[in-house]
Amino acid sequence: MSAERLAIDGGTPVRTEPFTKRKPFGARELELLKEALESQTLFAPESDMVRRFEAAVSELYGVKYAIGTTSGTAALHLAVGALGLNPGDEVITAPITDMGTVIPILFQNGVPVFADTAPGSLAMDPEDVRRKITPRTRAIIVVHLTGNPVEIEPFLEIAREHGLVLIEDCCQAYVTKLRGRYVGTFGHIGCFSMQQSKHATTGDGGFCITNDPVLADKMRLFSDKGWLRKQVSDARVYTTLGLNYRMNGLQAAVGLAQIEKVRAVVERRNELGDRLSSLIRDVPGIRPAEVTPGGEHSYWFYPLITVDWKAAEFAAAVRAEGVPAGAGYIGKPIFLCSEVLYGGRTYGDSNFPFNSPYTDRKYEELYAPGVCPNCEDILEHLVVLSLHEQMRDEEIEDMAAAVRKVAQGLKAKQVTT
Ligand SMILES: Cc1ncc(COP(=O)(O)O)c(C=O)c1O
Repeated sequence: MSAERLAIDGGTPVRTEPFTKRKPFGARELELLKEALESQTLFAPESDMVRRFEAAVSELYGVKYAIGTTSGTAALHLAVGALGLNPGDEVITAPITDMGTVIPILFQNGVPVFADTAPGSLAMDPEDVRRKITPRTRAIIVVHLTGNPVEIEPFLEIAREHGLVLIEDCCQAYVTKLRGRYVGTFGHIGCFSMQQSKHATTGDGGFCITNDPVLADKMRLFSDKGWLRKQVSDARVYTTLGLNYRMNGLQAAVGLAQIEKVRAVVERRNELGDRLSSLIRDVPGIRPAEVTPGGEHSYWFYPLITVDWKAAEFAAAVRAEGVPAGAGYIGKPIFLCSEVLYGGRTYGDSNFPFNSPYTDRKYEELYAPGVCPNCEDILEHLVVLSLHEQMRDEEIEDMAAAVRKVAQGLKAKQVTT
């Protein structure tokens, strides 16, 4: 087999030009920021801009309630806070995610339990969720990772069967369709991040969506110190333990401009990502991004699976070709990335809620190597290619050319060694 010499071995790289840098903000953000400042009110409960932002999110998603927050972690904390967990209650979630999915469970004194990914997939396995359910389980948090919609039906069924709340973590999956419907609207609550790298961004920010008035009320209270702002007596009334996670008028101004264009952003990413997949579908030794049947991928990043190689080796060779590529995303299941989890380092030296009468679960067993073997395996084969809506078609073609060249070059080396 004759293959072109790889750049990592001294060959000529596919590309030397830098890729287009994403510029998410423009004139509309400036216009709305000016308007927000001129209103002289940036404080959420009185800000017209926050009200407009939340109305725009509700309309986009066709839901009754949207609540702006300061981050995606905060959005997830609103959702978990609304569950009213007792210490030691369990929430099942995915092992490939950001710590922002897990932190709220711990802060509510709950026990995060991780279900493995399905073999060869980045998506959580519903069968393993079933196996992990105990009488203490209260909710499931599904993560729509990288922008690929999770097949939600089995999780809805499990939630119905066991009376659990289903939370959708959509931080990486804006206006992402499954059978024509946006993820985030299937479960009880959808949570979104507006951190800098997300499809819609305010630098940091986020929001929750729901159609449930009770959950909406609880989330609103949780984000506002538990303060019942309706004047019911001369004294203030705080009904629940909450925090201050209120989005302000500046974030809302940028957020509104971003929400206005997020459909176009995702359509373009979908087009570019699918094009990349079509260009590399026949390349040996790799698998292009998985797209759930009936779904559309919004490509927060482009996940490539290297079947025949470790991701680190493949990614290094792709980078040498002038195409940015990372290996492994978070590297290990999230519970092996966090000392808080595998070391039980929660509150001071207490390990709470572990080693307490509230749970007999042991962090040393829940958060150990081997708990999610499929996840450990797939992360070793996951190459992360960056993709965004402002990229040119020619850049996608160079990405495909680099992937093809590296796969062929590495195959040729295998044959000759
Ligand atoms: C899947 C997922 N969940 C939660 C979060 C937390 O969001 P934030 O960083 O806005 O707090 C992120 C952010 O990267 C994420 O990707």
